[in-house]
Amino acid sequence: MPRTILGLESSCDDTAAAILRGREVLSSVVAGQGGLHAAYGGVVPEIAARAHAETLDGVVAEALREADLTLGEVDAIAVTAGPGLIGGVLAGVMMAKGLAAGSGKPLIGVNHLAGHALTPRLTDDLAYPYLMLLVSGGHCQFLIVRGPEDFTRLGGTIDDAPGEAFDKTARLLGLAQPGGPSVETEARHGDASRFAFPRPLLDRPGCDLSFSGLKTAILRQRDALVAAQRGLTRQDRADLCAGFQAAVRDVLSEKTRRALALYRAEHPAQPALAVAGGVAANGSLRAALRDVCADAGVVFTAPPLKLCTDNAAMIAYAGGELMEAGRASDMTLAARPRWPLDTAAAPLVGHGKKGAKA
Ligand code: KG4
Ligand code: ZN
Repeated sequence: MPRTILGLESSCDDTAAAILRGREVLSSVVAGQGGLHAAYGGVVPEIAARAHAETLDGVVAEALREADLTLGEVDAIAVTAGPGLIGGVLAGVMMAKGLAAGSGKPLIGVNHLAGHALTPRLTDDLAYPYLMLLVSGGHCQFLIVRGPEDFTRLGGTIDDAPGEAFDKTARLLGLAQPGGPSVETEARHGDASRFAFPRPLLDRPGCDLSFSGLKTAILRQRDALVAAQRGLTRQDRADLCAGFQAAVRDVLSEKTRRALALYRAEHPAQPALAVAGGVAANGSLRAALRDVCADAGVVFTAPPLKLCTDNAAMIAYAGGELMEAGRASDMTLAARPRWPLDTAAAPLVGHGKKGAKA
């Protein structure tokens, strides 16, 4: 019988618990904190940490109830041990240690980014190696994934993550948070060619990305429209959103083409691209990446949306692979604000909504 693993996730603003038996998701509970941070225009770490500490008990109980299991029937407890907002990560690690000590089950510390990066193995049984594009509110990187602890970073954002840029664009235009879905909805009836927004770093070789200049370009264009006509029309808003989304899509598509070329030079057999993270929910981006892969003869995988955004099923799954590899943790497991997947690559600069970029 495959292992049954309880996973916990609390590294940003979602408190989550899930139970997996092999690749079968028996339960996956995600409690968001959207309302708590709404007045501040971003995630407030102290508020997030307190909410995690208060909510973890409840989501674990709910995950067990939905799976119709007791803690005694679980084989191991996996928990996000970083990177992320340290208070939230600590709350999760302490909860997991308590559960492990109380039940006598093994404890496994999981890297949150590895959770995202291994998701296509959970959902599609994708074989190693593959190229991963991780695009979320806190992260943006291209990774060659060769094993649960074997990653090579080919490039990443040098400033904001694309999800942050979507969120900031929404804020500038008075749209609801999280910004990604609001901007995507507005963009549907907008004209992407009305404003000429920059395609940052396309003129430079390599796979690094930048999104902060794009955000500034939106701010300038908005202010110019407001100054000229004392406000924004519905169509202005839609056109700004469409132009912004097209710029993000074009940059990510071109950098994906380059990352695929680097990846294929190393792994020519059966090339595959997988995308994960909240921004992978964007329909226009998914379609563009699908086209890039079709042109290049590369298999394209995108996990279902609820497993693209933060969840604990991905943590339980990654925990299972680590356990299989004999990599369980012990009670000395530490919460880490920074934890790069590729320790050989130069650190990425900048700070995301989860704190320092890994
Ligand atoms: O992976 P995730 O749930 O959390 C992080 O680890 O950051 O990603 C959340 C981010 C938010 O910035 C949100 O605006 C963005 O994903 N997002 C989208 C869409 N849905 C969510 N961005 C663009 N288009 C979407 N449809
Ligand atoms: Zn995430």
